[in-house]
Amino acid sequence: MSNQNLTITDNRTGKIYTVAIENGAIKATDLRQIKAADDDAGLCTYDPGFMNTAACKSRICYIDGDKGILEYRGYPIEQLAENCTFLEVAYLLAHGELPLQEDLGEFVHNITHHTILHENVKQFMHGFRYDAHPMGMFVSTVAALATFYPEAKDIFDTAKRRKQFFRLVAKAPTIGAFIYRHNVGMPYAYPDNDLSYTGNFLNMLYKKTEVKYKPNPVMERALDILFILHADHEQNCSTTAMRSVGSANTDPYSSLAAAAAALYGPLHGGANEAVLKMLRAIGNKDKIPEFIKRVKAGEGRLMGFGHRVYKNYDPRARIIKRAADEVFEVTGRNPLIDIAVELERIALEDEYFIKRRLYPNVDFYSGIIYEAMGIPSEMFTVMFAIPRTVGWLTHYEEMLLDSEQKIARPKQLYLGAARRDFVPMHQRKTAQT
Ligand code: CMC
Repeated sequence: MSNQNLTITDNRTGKIYTVAIENGAIKATDLRQIKAADDDAGLCTYDPGFMNTAACKSRICYIDGDKGILEYRGYPIEQLAENCTFLEVAYLLAHGELPLQEDLGEFVHNITHHTILHENVKQFMHGFRYDAHPMGMFVSTVAALATFYPEAKDIFDTAKRRKQFFRLVAKAPTIGAFIYRHNVGMPYAYPDNDLSYTGNFLNMLYKKTEVKYKPNPVMERALDILFILHADHEQNCSTTAMRSVGSANTDPYSSLAAAAAALYGPLHGGANEAVLKMLRAIGNKDKIPEFIKRVKAGEGRLMGFGHRVYKNYDPRARIIKRAADEVFEVTGRNPLIDIAVELERIALEDEYFIKRRLYPNVDFYSGIIYEAMGIPSEMFTVMFAIPRTVGWLTHYEEMLLDSEQKIARPKQLYLGAARRDFVPMHQRKTAQT
């Protein structure tokens, strides 16, 4: 007899139950049979923030947080960052295998030929105030795209779904670049299909009056690496939002807008912007001990540090730190890097951070590179959202095709008032809250 099961004794009733263990997990619904009385709803688990709950089976991304390992479809992130272009990694994530040359050619062609935005989208974006936050614009513009492609609602039609994948991955950089130019008051620069994904993004950000923009190859490659590192990260807050909203069979644009909204939060993708604000506020290396003291006293967090899954150095932070030196050779050194390196050194030697296993995460160094590239800090989360579009859509697809998935609908533990009768206004004695 298999021993892949768990025996539970309910001390309330003395009853013994056996539940199966599969892939290192028990099914939460198997606990429902455990009842203290016939009319009770059965046992469930209480897990705010999904600290120890798997909500899906996935074959896309693997993280071992204790060892600091990140793999896409089984390939270590270090090897992908070293050898691939971003679109090659996008293909890998979406299809599960690295592409052959001709497959990649077709994939790149499909994405390249969907980069242009409908002219009405431009008008829509134009309606935002000059100082609108880029993430507010990104979330709204992606949501608005759903109205341009109503066939996107046909989510169980494979060809139509694939087309929205190409559109969203292709248009995300165009939206990002248009947001930047809206904020700085420059005319929008149209996509150049001769350029690579990241080369074209630089073109749309920085092209001025030249006939043809030539991206700096070091910057183009650095951006490719940064995009590869940000392409996916399994069931984080925004991917969970994508899957949850998508589980209602919502179209990919509206689902992705929800995911981007989740990313906007300072505890998630908004952390890179917060890191820069923090480094600027610290100002110089001498002020670091004082800053650390305040963090330890609970007066704010060391942004860019700590992670729900990584209890070791985030492998992405290590790769970014290396890429920073190459970018600085072109752009000049960003003085904030010296504060960041010293902050990291002091934090990693401090008992508070050691005990809680807090290490630099992906956001600790990414903003410093983006700033050196001339990207304003308000844009950093958009820089995260563009490549993460690939991960979100890959999870969306996996969720839709998974026959075990259902509309997301967690339980709650109701601790509110017990049933009581309505009290007319003139009879109420105590203030209602
Ligand atoms: N600075 C100071 N203390 C921290 C930090 C930090 N950055 N992160 C966690 N802690 C402390 C926290 O106060 C708690 O201490 P105690 O046990 O004494 O109450 C302990 O460490 C555990 O923290 P937690 O909030 O329970 O951990 P979590 O897994 O719920 O949160 C996190 C993970 C990423 C939200 C958190 O570490 C954090 O707020 N970090 C700063 C924001 C940040 O850099 N976010 C980017 C995450 S990586 C990119 C992404 O995936 O979006």
